[in-house]
Amino acid sequence: TQAVPVIAIDGPSASGKGTVAQRVATALGMHYLDSGALYRLLGLAAQKRGIALEAEDKLAELAGQVDIRFEGEGIWLDGVKVGDELRTEEAGAAASRIAALPKVRAALLDKQRAFRRAPGLVADGRDMASVVFPDSVLKIFLTASAEARAERRYKQLKEKGMSANIAALLQDIRARDERDTQRSVAPLQQAQGASLLDTTPLNIEQAVQEVLSRYRAVK
Ligand code: CDP
Ligand code: CDP
Repeated sequence: TQAVPVIAIDGPSASGKGTVAQRVATALGMHYLDSGALYRLLGLAAQKRGIALEAEDKLAELAGQVDIRFEGEGIWLDGVKVGDELRTEEAGAAASRIAALPKVRAALLDKQRAFRRAPGLVADGRDMASVVFPDSVLKIFLTASAEARAERRYKQLKEKGMSANIAALLQDIRARDERDTQRSVAPLQQAQGASLLDTTPLNIEQAVQEVLSRYRAVK
């Protein structure tokens, strides 16, 4: 599968990675991997089974057991469709805690690499460029100011009819940035060979066009 191209889009919470990566994948007719969803799903599965978010061995074992399927917009965990619970900041925080455990990350590696199929893959997360797909043809570090990200998350939750508080969201985003950048294994950082895309002043369409033009430039 060495020849199947991967576009890696990494960055902090609510920078727009998921939205941009999905649209780029659609525009190019490629597959899409939401790697954060795997960590979120594993966090939910652990909580449902009463497994502590620090129990590294049990969590790694669970990662090998759970059946995760992505179909269109839907995500299934052990045959049950997962709803908006996956997108809450609580699920994000749980994901971020288990994501700091090396054995959990290792157990999810193959699951992520299995998404690499012709004609290509657009993958978003924290370590797509550095660890999971280091041979990506294009590596983007997508970011935006913490304030812009809190505002985007606020609007997103409101649109879904979920409750949200902008000050609390900003605090959550800063806490998650801190944990994701300070951890010893696969910390969030601009990978070697990755180009920076600051979307603070950009709308979604502009960000998508920028990624597509960078892809055309390296292809
Ligand atoms: O959408 P958002 O950026 O808020 O979160 P996400 O991409 O769904 O990721 C949730 C958490 O999972 C992050 O805070 C990371 O700690 C972790 N994660 C990771 O460690 N590595 C990845 N490739 C993706 C997510
Ligand atoms: O995946 P990640 O957590 O990085 O972010 P996302 O869920 O794709 O985007 C968070 C929210 O910001 C979504 O509601 C996007 O529509 C919005 N967004 C935006 O307003 N402007 C951008 N340039 C990118 C995303």
